[in-house]
Amino acid sequence: MLTVNPGSFNPDELQEAAELIRKGEIVAFPTETVYGLGADATNAKAIEKIFMAKERPSDNPLIVHVVGMDMLKKCVDDLPEIAKQLIDKFWPGPLTLVLKRSEYISDMVTKGLDTVAIRSPNHPVAQALITLSQRPIAAPSANLSGRPSPTSASHVIEDLEGRIPLVIDGGATQVGVESTVISLVSHPPTLLRPGGITKEQLLKIIPNLEVKVDRELERLSPGTRYPHYAPRKELILLVGFEKEEQVDKILLAENQRIVLLCSNPLHSHDPEIHTVLLGKSLEEIQRNLFSNLRNIDHLPVTKAYVEEVESHAEGLAIMNRLKKAASRMLSPNSQ
Ligand code: TXA
Ligand code: MG
Repeated sequence: MLTVNPGSFNPDELQEAAELIRKGEIVAFPTETVYGLGADATNAKAIEKIFMAKERPSDNPLIVHVVGMDMLKKCVDDLPEIAKQLIDKFWPGPLTLVLKRSEYISDMVTKGLDTVAIRSPNHPVAQALITLSQRPIAAPSANLSGRPSPTSASHVIEDLEGRIPLVIDGGATQVGVESTVISLVSHPPTLLRPGGITKEQLLKIIPNLEVKVDRELERLSPGTRYPHYAPRKELILLVGFEKEEQVDKILLAENQRIVLLCSNPLHSHDPEIHTVLLGKSLEEIQRNLFSNLRNIDHLPVTKAYVEEVESHAEGLAIMNRLKKAASRMLSPNSQ
């Protein structure tokens, strides 16, 4: 573990990490969204180590992280006008663009596709690591496949201790969910995964952005087919409940030890019910979401319930992750 202060570090502190990347090793590092498990995107053997360490299904392609237009241009074959506009507005930041790939990137990253998913992270440690290693860095989230994505170095250790040579600890991540993924090779552009940049922000630049419903998304972005983000304990997503008394009634009828993850601070749930507040705003709920999902396994309960949030702004990414994390959904009609 290498601890660096993102606000005041000397890039020299990252020389050893950059050397590991250049040598074809894997390194966990902070980004503004979640921690990534990085390797040289041009080195097939290095990329293979990511798949081994994470136990990631071998057909799921990775996101490539770059700094600067020169590095970007080496990785892609074509940079359409719309990409330039999005880059101007949102990079560095949590927006991943799917573009035509170049031969520079390893096939192990793109898994047989003729496209590459690429973004420029808005985190000084990630940027310094890429710049020092002089390589585009391919990095999925630094969790075991299927687990909630890591938003702190301790989450990375929890999943990957003993499997990777180095974790760079740069503190808790700011955004808390992964980047938004959009395809610019389809016409019109398509939102493949909601994330750190909201649909509303994107619509201002791409008014004809196509937004698929979650089931359609599963077909389109290879990584969305697999079970994801799930705590080990049963998690039930509550949808469509208008009155908190309805929720209380269900929870009080449980004969197991349960916890309710609440999205609404105004709800005055029955004092008998053990609750955890997810956050006071969508932004805060998003930032702490994965940490709260991981924490369910550490609470003295056997089962968890979670309340829905509205599907606008950050709510779209939050609900996308909750639907995948939950073992099932419960609505007043399914009672
Ligand atoms: O915020 C993030 O995006 C984080 C940090 C580390 O940058 N990374 C991340 O990577 O979430 P990962 O591997 O967990 O998710 C990558 C997603 C997957 O759903 C994958 O299928 C999709 O991007 N993807 C990668 N290459 C693609 C491509 N060429 N076409 C379509 N989807 C692609
Ligand atoms: Mg992931």
